[in-house]
Amino acid sequence: MEFFAVKKIKHLKYKQMKKITNICCIGAGYVGGPTMAVIAEKCPHIKVTVVDMNEKRIADWNDANLDKLPIYEPGLKEVVEVARNRNLFFSTDVDDAIRNAEIIFISVNTPTKTYGVGKGMAADLKFVELCARQIAKVAENDKIIVEKSTIPVRTASAIHTILKATGKDVDFQVLSNPEFLAEGTAVSDLHNPDRILIGGSQDEKGLEAIECLVGVYNNWVPRDRIITTNVWSSELSKLTANAFLAQRVSSINAISALCEKTGANVEEVANAIGRDSRIGAKFLKSSVGFGGSCFQKDILNLVYLCNYFNLPDVAEYWMQVVKMNDYQKHRFAKNIINTLFNTVSGKKITFLGWAFKKDTNDTRETAAMYVADELLQDKAEIHVYDPKVSEEQIYADLEYLQTHRVGHFVEQGDVMELSEIKKLVKVHKNPYDATKNAHAIAILTEWNEFKAYDWENIYKNMLKPAFLFDGRNITDKNNLNEIGFEIYHIGKA
Ligand SMILES: NC(=O)c1ccc[n+]([C@@H]2O[C@H](COP(=O)([O-])OP(=O)(O)OC[C@H]3O[C@@H](n4cnc5c(N)ncnc54)[C@H](O)[C@@H]3O)[C@@H](O)[C@H]2O)c1
Repeated sequence: MEFFAVKKIKHLKYKQMKKITNICCIGAGYVGGPTMAVIAEKCPHIKVTVVDMNEKRIADWNDANLDKLPIYEPGLKEVVEVARNRNLFFSTDVDDAIRNAEIIFISVNTPTKTYGVGKGMAADLKFVELCARQIAKVAENDKIIVEKSTIPVRTASAIHTILKATGKDVDFQVLSNPEFLAEGTAVSDLHNPDRILIGGSQDEKGLEAIECLVGVYNNWVPRDRIITTNVWSSELSKLTANAFLAQRVSSINAISALCEKTGANVEEVANAIGRDSRIGAKFLKSSVGFGGSCFQKDILNLVYLCNYFNLPDVAEYWMQVVKMNDYQKHRFAKNIINTLFNTVSGKKITFLGWAFKKDTNDTRETAAMYVADELLQDKAEIHVYDPKVSEEQIYADLEYLQTHRVGHFVEQGDVMELSEIKKLVKVHKNPYDATKNAHAIAILTEWNEFKAYDWENIYKNMLKPAFLFDGRNITDKNNLNEIGFEIYHIGKA
């Protein structure tokens, strides 16, 4: 089977591939927006339309003021400025975009299910399914459908089944093209990807569709960095990549707890093991725990699939990565409470950072909200400053979490009303106001600006003893100790 596939690919090299001139993407989020902006920038001969049912989001993408784009990513506004209204368009007219496109990317959200079968584990594919049904209804000629969203293995066949059921004389090819960009570095990742992965059916039409998409990326990505596979390998590779990345974070975080007990320093350990070329230096930074919309949901999805296919030992192996992450967030919150003489009730704790990492305004699954939630259970007063996250978002995150807690360390907590949350949580526009008269500061995001603060001034205006819990190890421990802070770093005694 594979042997024939290879022969066909060679044959296709000599065949004239269809030149793509019109692409649409359903979903103008953290993936759809930046990815399509870069495709439009690099392929001026292709009209790229990004559509979304969220009118506000589309209006923000079209805002003349580029500082109001709905997504903050370094370098993104410059790309949008070049391509917008040249060959890059943002619209809410989904039907029109589907009708005119030769390639349709599906880049909608695939969160963990919060109801019914697979609740708390499986990926919720209702948005992907809706897209497939809409394409089936509207399409009048052949289309290549590209799964950009991260989805469970074999979703392509579900999409194909829906599309096939239209009874129209139209050919739909479903490709898997998972996105590997990291938020915070999305634009440079898209400009210079380690690899592009495209999976498709291994028959003649499937291989032709693969080559069409290869042709799009090949406008700026060298051909040897574009990997083509069967559709299932491509789908599973995305879940596997995220599971491996998250596993590295959980592994070094597990060691950080041991470092604190033994007097070892987790940064020295990470440096020493990272110099081994078999291990490598990246993703060995110990922290309060990973967040973001992808790692946890994709591992839970993998675990669900393993159980579905009756592989409970494999499921348990990967589940431990998520449990270790819960443990790390809990350990950080508990350490704050223990250090502040076993209660934070009525105490002012300032959070520097709320986003799940620096250089993004994304707060999905941010460690900050889990730590805040645990401290709120003990009635702490939390004051937050984040350079890019809005007050509404912080309240929305905490409110959502009350009924969507995951992980056995937080599940037992009381459900708080929004009014009670608003009484205890204040959001500031300035770090110096946020830290004034605080009992303690907790650093939750590694924003560069935090390193450059006037820490002497901050210390002066805090209550004493002035505690600082650095959940990202970005501050200079010796310096801050000299100023007078009682400072805690992850993984250092
Ligand atoms: N965020 C990341 O770093 C990242 C990286 C790689 C892959 N992914 C995957 O990419 C996918 C999208 O993630 P995201 O972070 O961009 O999500 P997002 O929530 O930021 O964006 C999804 C958008 O899709 C829109 N949408 C949903 N259903 C729709 C429909 N039927 N019609 C029109 N619009 C619809 C929503 O309104 C939303 O704006 C997910 O599967 C995710 O796992 C995300």
